[in-house]
Amino acid sequence: MAKAKQTSVYFCQSCGYESAKWMGQCPGYHEWNTFVEEKVVKGDSSSASFRIASAAKGGASSMTSATVTSIGDVSGEEGIRESSGIDELDRVLGGGVMKGSLTLIGGDPGIGKSTLLLQVCRNMSAAGRKVLYVSGEESAAQIKMRADRIGKFDGDMKLLCETDLNAIAEVMRSMIPDVCVIDSIQTMYSEQVSSAPGSVSQVRESTQVLMQLAKVLGISVFIVGHVTKEGTVAGPRVLEHMVDTVLYFEGDRHASYRILRGVKNRFGSTNEIGVFEMRGEGLVQVTNPSEYLLNGRPLDASGCIVSCSMEGTRPILVEIQSLVCRSNLGVPRRQATGVDYNRVNLLMAVLEKRCGMHLGDCDAYVNLTGGMKLTEPALDLAMVLAIVSSFKNQSVPASVVAFGEVGLSGEVRTVSQVAQRVSEAVRLGFKTVIVPAPSLEDAKKAAGRDAEIIGVSNVREAVDRVI
Ligand code: TYD
Ligand code: MG
Repeated sequence: MAKAKQTSVYFCQSCGYESAKWMGQCPGYHEWNTFVEEKVVKGDSSSASFRIASAAKGGASSMTSATVTSIGDVSGEEGIRESSGIDELDRVLGGGVMKGSLTLIGGDPGIGKSTLLLQVCRNMSAAGRKVLYVSGEESAAQIKMRADRIGKFDGDMKLLCETDLNAIAEVMRSMIPDVCVIDSIQTMYSEQVSSAPGSVSQVRESTQVLMQLAKVLGISVFIVGHVTKEGTVAGPRVLEHMVDTVLYFEGDRHASYRILRGVKNRFGSTNEIGVFEMRGEGLVQVTNPSEYLLNGRPLDASGCIVSCSMEGTRPILVEIQSLVCRSNLGVPRRQATGVDYNRVNLLMAVLEKRCGMHLGDCDAYVNLTGGMKLTEPALDLAMVLAIVSSFKNQSVPASVVAFGEVGLSGEVRTVSQVAQRVSEAVRLGFKTVIVPAPSLEDAKKAAGRDAEIIGVSNVREAVDRVI
């Protein structure tokens, strides 16, 4: 075996790009000043993850003989899933917590990652599972205080306040819990890696060790990862490809609701979302997000319209607001909150060219209320109508919902899952639904006699019909 040799390597702390020398700008994602020197041992067989892998295979010697299997001989049975006791989380996970899976939960500090996982631990320990909660950030007393806030603990949950990964691995091996939470991965360190906790090589090594433990011992492991100001978990693009499932907690810290979004899922579909509200007693599920998001909207204000976006399998109604006013600046201000800024600029250019509206010297603000962030092109038509409504200072009737993708020549293109979107609008009592013309029949079938369906084939037609 090659002799282990310690070398200096520079890692981009944001995306994990590896380089032999220091660089000012990362060639990966072009960020500046993200390179940090870390010492790594090349060709090292003493690393914890290596040792665990070989132990699982019955000693280092058996590493040399690999066995191949034909695909027909592999039993295709589904893994064992268990409910986390929180339906919104189960859905994002693809139907429950998969045994032996490694799930990363990322999000801004204070958004509620520890609270959610503590609730999962409470539910699963109450269901008779062995649960281990490892905290490298808080003392046992602090966790107890939070536990008291979220309610009664029926089961026996074990706490471990530790940051040394070898010690944690030892406990996991002797206890073999069903569920283990690591809060957070950035505080963990392994002696085998000399760089500081939270650095790319530490985070990578720690995750590798946890992955091996999860697979070998069949433990469902949740790891918490903090997100840096750029919006990625520190060292985390590295992390994302190593783990089975990546969930992000989003939402305005000032607003009380939180959105849990699936970004990667080896056991289910991605882009499912779970909606929660942070209350005094912890996170509470919001089972009816459309109603929640539309609560208290103005009914006859100009520049406001409701649209429908599909989040995974679930349609969600959201309100889009726009404010267009004459600019006092040489270069007009454009601002987008919750929707894509470039998309707003593009749609304004389409309106200028295809509908002859002089928006070039107007400031424009487009806002998705409730702090949601959505990028689905199905919101285009509603954004266009909101902008025109504000520009003309004429309101859109409050009972209208519009969705459809807008192309560069001003055409309204069809979008997926029209029937689900229309049904959701009808369920919430909307009377008129503006849909792309090609989807008219599908939409009519879904709406029955409860709502009027209007099919539009271009932006001009849509504007004429509602404003
Ligand atoms: P926390 O789970 O500690 O966030 P994270 O682990 O993502 O950093 O959540 C902390 C915030 O949530 C804190 O500002 C207090 C608030 N909170 C409540 O509003 N209600 C509660 O029941 C709990 C436990 C926390
Ligand atoms: Mg926390």
